[in-house]
Amino acid sequence: MADYHVRILPDNKLITLSDEQNLLKAMTAAGIPLQASCGGRGTCGQCRVIIKEGQVCSSEAGTISQEEQRLGYVLACQSRPASDLVVEVPAGTKLGEHRVLLGEEQEARDARYGEDAEAFVLYGDNSYPAVELPVYRKIRLKIPQPTLDDPADDWGRLTRATRGETGIERLSVSLNVLRDLPRVLRDAGWDVSVALAEKDTWQGVEIAGVEPFPSGRKYYGLAVDIGTTTVAAELVDLETGRTGGARGSFNRQSVYGDDVISRIIHAEENPGGLEELQKAILETVNDLIKDLAGGLGIGQADIRAAVCAGNTAMTHLFLGIDPAYIRLEPYTPAANNIPAVQAGQAGLHIHPQAWVRFIPGTASYIGGDITAGVLATGMSEADTLTLFIDIGTNGEMVLGNNEWLISCACSAGPAFEGGGLRYGMRAMDGAIENVRITAGGSTVQYSTIGGGAPLGICGTGLIDCVAWLYRSGVIDRGGSFAPHTPSPRVRDAGGGKEFVLAWSGEAGGGSDISISEAEIKYILRSKAAVYAGIRSMLQMVGLPFEAIERVFIAGGFGRYINIREAINIGLLPDIPVQKYAYIGNSSLKGARLSLLSKSARDAAEKIAGKITYLELSAGNTFMEEFVSALFIPHTDLELFPTAA
Ligand code: FES
Repeated sequence: MADYHVRILPDNKLITLSDEQNLLKAMTAAGIPLQASCGGRGTCGQCRVIIKEGQVCSSEAGTISQEEQRLGYVLACQSRPASDLVVEVPAGTKLGEHRVLLGEEQEARDARYGEDAEAFVLYGDNSYPAVELPVYRKIRLKIPQPTLDDPADDWGRLTRATRGETGIERLSVSLNVLRDLPRVLRDAGWDVSVALAEKDTWQGVEIAGVEPFPSGRKYYGLAVDIGTTTVAAELVDLETGRTGGARGSFNRQSVYGDDVISRIIHAEENPGGLEELQKAILETVNDLIKDLAGGLGIGQADIRAAVCAGNTAMTHLFLGIDPAYIRLEPYTPAANNIPAVQAGQAGLHIHPQAWVRFIPGTASYIGGDITAGVLATGMSEADTLTLFIDIGTNGEMVLGNNEWLISCACSAGPAFEGGGLRYGMRAMDGAIENVRITAGGSTVQYSTIGGGAPLGICGTGLIDCVAWLYRSGVIDRGGSFAPHTPSPRVRDAGGGKEFVLAWSGEAGGGSDISISEAEIKYILRSKAAVYAGIRSMLQMVGLPFEAIERVFIAGGFGRYINIREAINIGLLPDIPVQKYAYIGNSSLKGARLSLLSKSARDAAEKIAGKITYLELSAGNTFMEEFVSALFIPHTDLELFPTAA
């Protein structure tokens, strides 16, 4: 085994790696994460880097074109050093800054929604109080001193007074508090500030601190949205409910694959794989905590509670719980409702004795993030029949109102997150997000996030692209290229046709940005899965599309989506655009509500218990609907009377 020095440009970072390590893993470990939607299997082509100097052993060129090979491109996941190297990471390869949705951004909607202001009203009509019995709070207690007539012990006096003030029956105490209790009570003249830390329904409330009154110390809570692709965290002042800042980042598990299944497989098949994944998500969250605490000028130990909302697999991986059975029939997770754990035990860098709660989920593919979303919308309290859709690396949906809730999850695949496509990328600077194509396909107009040269295309751009390729006559309803298209942008890519969206001269990565026929069909499969999921739920409850009174779209993908085009390609049902509303990061919003309000926490438990999960793989309905939806917009055009 030989060690080599590798200089990575443009960061100019020097790392050392052995000839047995691949560039992808080594660069990730060195803090230079690359896009890697296939998790290093050599199939997605997203981890392309350029070898500027030196030699590598590359086992698979995969999707690298001959022209790119000539320019020195290799797949980082398939390449090991055979000498010292200088490696350049092209702008489109680096897993850069995401447009991570934070709570505060929900107010600032994208201009595109502004154009349809009437159509896209920001909803959020839950009725939970802003601050009402937060998960961690302090109360003042004046405790009667012991006397010969009443010589009860200190702990007994404290619990009696706490119960009298709060009505809480199940109280526990930490040993640290008990150790200091006699002195603190007497020094304070029995006038104390008592910190109450609510664990969960089963474990009750812990007396987490006793200080002389007034305590004067601020205390904060942390809300976390543990997303498969991105992670967002918000600090909240638990006394006032005011935000202390919000931060977001990509999930560092992304190098192990875009979707939860790839990650579960990584955990299963690689010795130490589960630990790698747990470490990656903990590092992601802990760095956000460090940033947030630093930004507010507080110590991390001032964060005295946390509420996390994540899908079932992410929650398992966060805690290092074996996720294997989530993906195996009958799809049983270790726990949908995970008991609270202390931060020190979980590896979260806040106060080590702080309790970390997890919003309960319903099933393997309807997790706490969806419960949090339903909570944030208030749909479980309203008469209005509401459809909630969260399209990320999976498509999760809930339909219902204050009487009933039904949900399903379809494996839409990561297409709308840019995964599984050669030039697919997440919604970050350089991503093509808006496309127009003239009849015959000779001219393409596009805009990118950030306004710079295009590096790839994100999910919203893909929807536009498919809609316009069809409208311009370049592809047919099944997504196949029409024969004899005169456009110079349609070419044979060896193994199938492709359409060039941006020529190399205008693209930031130095090569043409294109979309192949196979990729268009992959997008059609993704959109068909989402639509078929919605239809299956409606069929289950015997309701037509017209019964849906409003649709909430959650998550980063929904922020930029052009609803009209999403209807045109058959991703979303053809109901009036005015019924659609974008609700931002509802998972983070639900976690924040749970931090601050006992009613919200109780409601979250009720929602998780009330949702009926429809397993789409059982029965034929979903598959029949899926096959019918594989066309633009659908086999049955009567379902899309307004599609253009
Ligand atoms: Fe390297 Fe997918 S091809 S990560």
